Amino acid sequence: MYEVRILTIFPEIFDSFLGFGNPARAILARLLNVEPVDLRQFALDRHHSTDDYPYGGGAGMVMKPEPLVRGIKHLRANMFSPRVVLMTPQGRLFKQADAQELAGADSLALVCGRYEGIDERVRSFVDDEISVGDYVLSGGETAAMVVIDAISRLIPGVLGTDSRTDGDSFYDGLLEYPQYTRPREFEGLEVPSVLLEGDHAKIRRWRKQQALARTLARRPELLGRRTLDPSEIELLEEIRSETINGES
Ligand code: ADE
Repeated sequence: MYEVRILTIFPEIFDSFLGFGNPARAILARLLNVEPVDLRQFALDRHHSTDDYPYGGGAGMVMKPEPLVRGIKHLRANMFSPRVVLMTPQGRLFKQADAQELAGADSLALVCGRYEGIDERVRSFVDDEISVGDYVLSGGETAAMVVIDAISRLIPGVLGTDSRTDGDSFYDGLLEYPQYTRPREFEGLEVPSVLLEGDHAKIRRWRKQQALARTLARRPELLGRRTLDPSEIELLEEIRSETINGES
């Protein structure tokens, strides 16, 4: 069972999230256990305060180090070798490869900051810092949901065999090919005929070509990071010449 603890001042925020979709399926199948842990229980004063004014002045509040570090120590003492990760916009950008790597760990402790920031010294007590994107969220909780969601669908047995993860966008370093379902014609828009003809080799080739074309058009930097095999280079060349000849 994959164990996740979330250190947060808003444990209830996770209730509905954990009740739906892959996280819920994983939890029901006892492949995943997620427990939000209330940071306030580790506060030292009788008001259970978790934030304070910044030294040096300035706007906003800063999360105090003691509750966070006491919470982290509590989690380390009560979990089997957890990876302790601080959710912060200053962390390294979370990618599908990170989701795969984290899904292979024994357990995970996600530390959520709030307010304008956390006391810098807390950083010495975590193993890793993750950002889910170059934007500032109100707190690490929604970022933690992103990470848990991405991991939950990679835990073996969570997805059915007919919904494997190896066609996913980013799994192979490419964006996903376009998908269609019934009806064949919708508001004048047709399903590409190759998908209706039942030639599976042709469909595979078309999908790969679409994935390459889409990645080239929308996220060209992804292609630079990936080595293309000769057949992929050939498909890309075809797309390039079609574009030059005005076919698409
Ligand atoms: N906390 C606030 N913004 C965040 C982000 N982009 N990623 C992770 N944690 C955050």
